[in-house]
Amino acid sequence: MSVKLITDYLDGFVTSDDFSSITDDVSLVEGTLSTGTCEGSDYLGWLTLPRDYDKEEFDRIKAAARKIRSDSDVLIVIGIGGSYLGARAVIELLGSRYYNDLSDLKIYFAGNNISASSIERTLRMCEGKNVSVNVVSKSGTTLEPALAFRIFKSYLEERYGREEAAKRIYATTDRAKGSLKKLADIEGYECFVVPDDVGGRYSVLTAVGLLPIAAAGFNIDALMTGARDAMEAFTSKDLTVNTPAAYAAARYLMYKKGKTVELMSSYEPDFVMMCEWYKQLFGESEGKQNKGLLPISTIFTTDLHSMGQYIQDGSRLMFETIVRFKKPVTDFVLQSDADNFDGLNYIAGRKISYVCDSAFAATLAAHVEGGVPNLVIEAETIDEHSLGELIYFFEKACAVSGLLLGVNPFNQPGVEFYKSNMFALMEKPGYEKITEMLREKTKGLI
Ligand code: PA5
Repeated sequence: MSVKLITDYLDGFVTSDDFSSITDDVSLVEGTLSTGTCEGSDYLGWLTLPRDYDKEEFDRIKAAARKIRSDSDVLIVIGIGGSYLGARAVIELLGSRYYNDLSDLKIYFAGNNISASSIERTLRMCEGKNVSVNVVSKSGTTLEPALAFRIFKSYLEERYGREEAAKRIYATTDRAKGSLKKLADIEGYECFVVPDDVGGRYSVLTAVGLLPIAAAGFNIDALMTGARDAMEAFTSKDLTVNTPAAYAAARYLMYKKGKTVELMSSYEPDFVMMCEWYKQLFGESEGKQNKGLLPISTIFTTDLHSMGQYIQDGSRLMFETIVRFKKPVTDFVLQSDADNFDGLNYIAGRKISYVCDSAFAATLAAHVEGGVPNLVIEAETIDEHSLGELIYFFEKACAVSGLLLGVNPFNQPGVEFYKSNMFALMEKPGYEKITEMLREKTKGLI
């Protein structure tokens, strides 16, 4: 198990007595998770997924990924929220944000916005290329992916004819219900399942994430093994050791002491989308009943030159959680330069990773001194196994965090509000009652 939580830099903010004071609460919450008696217990499938996943479907995912790689230049993954963030996060961390330039199969994400120009640009990326589509929607009714799918479905049908298009469309949705499942059955699309007991933001290790990740050429066996190792390792409720429960407890204690913002950061620029995945996971799980830490993110050292001033010196609202990879995937040694115009000869012979480690240590010390406590989560390196561990670590920590806070970490009732307003404004049948009131409130906006 490579993932390690370091709580040494909370000194002066959270004490070991604070941890002791909530040991019983954490134990209780963990107990309700493992016995399936917590709030939202219908959505605990992710807890044992790394062991209990559907092996037959897993093989079909690999076969579909091979087919996509053999007959397509472009894969369009259509989905929003939990139905795309995990896949994109894993692909960009493992393959870099330049993965499309570095690989034969280009993967573009659509259906995560309502922008006509974004759709048009994605369609342009398909010109003259062989294209497959993976449409991902658990409910099968979400507006953004439904809009995009309507457009990409007719694009494929125009290019390939209905029958061949159907062979290029993969639907990841509910096992039995929903309009996408119905359409997929009629058209004969290959289907993959979002299990009933796994919510969108906990679904990266189901077909939702696994098909695009496998299509991108990454080793989903190693990803699942990493998650399974984490599942087996992280059973302890001991807050003095390296557990998701200890991370959840530290976050909770910080929140109670007025640190209401968690700033997730990494020194790896390819971690940007992992930060987006983390923000959805924790934001949607905890932000309810006027409670919850606000999850925000930066990439260091990049954002030290934009947000660094605020973090060091602005309102004291936040703590930082730094995700750190111990072994760099690659390294460079800085050569000596006879002219030394840039004055860098003092680090000649040193590796770039040494400079980065120094920046990490220096920044941590500066921020802690400035009143920003730091948590550090270490993983071995950027590979599938470590990433599987990290994903499971965060999912479990998120569930414990939400339950400690006294909210249901598996629902998202607040997300419905904008949707019903939008449907009412567009006169969707069933929403007529609030249409007039909304027109009045939003006069001049449309
Ligand atoms: O975490 C969640 O449940 C949400 O983010 C959903 O994943 C998102 O709203 C998309 O839903 P669906 O997969 O039903 O289209």
